[in-house]
Amino acid sequence: MPQKKKKRAIQKRKANAVKRKSPAIQRKRRQTAAKKHEIAVIDTIAAMRRFASTARAKKKKIGFVPTMGALHEGHISLIRAAKKDCDVVIVSIFVNPTQFSPTEDLSKYPRTFDSDQKLIAGAGGHAIFYPTNMMMYPEGYATYVTVESLSSLLCGVTRPHHFRGVTTVVTKLFTIITPDIAYFGEKDYQQAAIIRRMTADLNLPVMIKTCPVIRAENGLALSSRNRYLSDKEKADAPLLCRSLLAARAAYAKGGRDVKALTDIMESVLRGGKTLRIDYIAFVDAATLAKKTTADNNTRIIMAVYCGSTRLIDNMAIR
Ligand code: PAJ
Repeated sequence: MPQKKKKRAIQKRKANAVKRKSPAIQRKRRQTAAKKHEIAVIDTIAAMRRFASTARAKKKKIGFVPTMGALHEGHISLIRAAKKDCDVVIVSIFVNPTQFSPTEDLSKYPRTFDSDQKLIAGAGGHAIFYPTNMMMYPEGYATYVTVESLSSLLCGVTRPHHFRGVTTVVTKLFTIITPDIAYFGEKDYQQAAIIRRMTADLNLPVMIKTCPVIRAENGLALSSRNRYLSDKEKADAPLLCRSLLAARAAYAKGGRDVKALTDIMESVLRGGKTLRIDYIAFVDAATLAKKTTADNNTRIIMAVYCGSTRLIDNMAIR
């Protein structure tokens, strides 16, 4: 190809790439895909309110699944649960900046809208709420919702502002979407407990339902962050689940001393060279208060760094 022609072709390709990235073009692409998948993609707060109020006027029960996208079977299990109970299922996809600290993975958090959309449509979701940061936190934004005490325990020690961001965005999503039932995974056990507390304390007219942790065959709890793991880390990560199962087995044999049960978990985790424990806690399943002696209401909650990725997991002791 002559030099001039080649240059023009490169320029054209670059211009097309810029066009593809423009918000208007992306929006159009989303809407076209939405039609194909028969699912509404709602990208303004006003439109979301209209959609919800139309559903309410028709006496439809609204189920809501809040997510940050990069969906997997864990998220899909929540959509399926919502489908069983509700007439309309709305899934939000919003990587919420206020729940990330400046040193955390906000910018590299996986964004996979196209495959998320397919998965939601495949699971029978009816609408995706997909707002921008500027819509949710416009210039001058200054209001936060904090659940005291519960937010500073466990994961709140390492991530001091995290739950404030979660409760703020979930309150906003609840007021925009006005769901009858909202679905959360037990994978984020502390988060679900905090949302329950907040909903009760603020008398929000939403029922909170929690669904079990979905795991890979090797026991690893599914998480959007698992895709950060290297091969070595992937081989070590299932040890979190194995350590929980080891504590459970010891409890079944009569082990009640939390220190001894923690030792058992630590020895399992030492088998993974890429693992570093953040915390292991034996807590009351309802209040999250720490225990020194385990009983049937104990939940084991843990956070472990796998390389630089922080993984969380939990399990009922029985
Ligand atoms: P995200 O991490 O995307 O998770 C969305 C929901 O999916 C949460 O309720 C979470 O507990 C659930 N989930 C994730 N992995 C799961 C698994 N392996 N099994 C079962 N459920 C699982 O959690 C958040 O987003 C955000 O904090 C959010 C609530 C959306 C607020 O921004």
